[in-house]
Amino acid sequence: MMKKEKKFYQLTIAERLARLKADRSLSKDDLQALSGSPGLMPEQADHMIENVVGTFALPLGIAQHFLVNGREVLVPMVVEEPSVVAAASFMARLARSGGGFTASAAAPEMIGQIQVLDINDIDRAMRDLEKAKDELLEKAAQADPLLVKLGGGPRDIILRKIEDSPIGAFLVLHLVMDVRDAMGANAINTALERVTPLVESITGGRALLRILTNLADRRLARSQCAIPVKTLAFADYPGEMVRDRIIEAWAFAAVDPYRAATHNKGIMNGVDSVVLATGNDWRAVESGAHAYAARTGRYTSLSTWSAGENGELIGELEMPMAVGIVGGATRVHPTASAAIKLMGVHSAAELAEVIVSVGLAQNLGALRALATEGIQRGHMSLHARQVAVAAGVPQEWINPIVAQMVKEGNIHVKRALEIMDELRTR
Ligand code: MEV
Repeated sequence: MMKKEKKFYQLTIAERLARLKADRSLSKDDLQALSGSPGLMPEQADHMIENVVGTFALPLGIAQHFLVNGREVLVPMVVEEPSVVAAASFMARLARSGGGFTASAAAPEMIGQIQVLDINDIDRAMRDLEKAKDELLEKAAQADPLLVKLGGGPRDIILRKIEDSPIGAFLVLHLVMDVRDAMGANAINTALERVTPLVESITGGRALLRILTNLADRRLARSQCAIPVKTLAFADYPGEMVRDRIIEAWAFAAVDPYRAATHNKGIMNGVDSVVLATGNDWRAVESGAHAYAARTGRYTSLSTWSAGENGELIGELEMPMAVGIVGGATRVHPTASAAIKLMGVHSAAELAEVIVSVGLAQNLGALRALATEGIQRGHMSLHARQVAVAAGVPQEWINPIVAQMVKEGNIHVKRALEIMDELRTR
């Protein structure tokens, strides 16, 4: 009889790495970087931040089963919380039965802001800046000729008059810039400083802040999945019931900021894990996400869940996704660089599409558990499964041992082995 291939989670760490090598033709260095030995060296870290004394490690797991725009993706996730990687993989498998995730990303346009104070006539200054738009864009372009050569660069100037502020009225200039495959903070901030003297001379005002906004609402990424209702059924829960309860659970987050904060935290469990694994700025993505969630004036869910024409469960997630595959830690950090290679993404947009899909999968995992058996049971059985595997329990004994440990609330390697002995001697 042919031996069934083991699942990724059933392998040892060495076997998992060997499988990655076979699947993705990663180099020895890439595999070493993913395994964390050596990973980021203190000497490399010393060039990244100040006063370095060492590095700080977190678990790196690989989520399985992701199909994004028809492409198989192995998803590296850095996270300290149990169940996140397992839930993402499991939900990606459910989504796969409906064709996986369909994702897209808008042009990689970031926005930089200049706050201009002490202007005598703000309306007139706005008209003058409007007239000088081409000159301002040209000046901004000079800050990064390479970016312009790569097809990026300044795209637009948008002017805003802020009237209702504690210090009275002032003008804000938005510089919109296509940053291509970078996260873009450096490109934007440099361009802002380059155009500032011209802005001051046109307006007669005083420029104070010149900095990008993390509310990157032009750089949105979207993902959608449609899960056939029969795939949602499990244990005593019919698929229709699971679907309807997920929609009810989402409705709570749609109207209540207290619930929305936790609902979105579940999304960010997935999003941040990949943002972190790829060396991107997760604080930037976090602040962009929450500011976007509050864009209507009321903080709400970043995702939506509904029933489709054929009864399927449709999930959608749209959020700003300021991530890059060049610059910053994405290349300097050996593990981040190997993680990007593992994902097989060739542009920042492609990376954003995968990340938003992982966020959607994670949200589904949380809602499905919360709306049925509750999160603790799922956590406990996943934990028990990991413990049973760690105890070296043979495949055929895993399910009964997991069930028994969960029932007893006693989840330890020692107990897993005892139950195995008990079952054997029965
Ligand atoms: C826990 O890290 C995340 C959840 O609280 C998300 C949610 O409630 O939707 C389970």
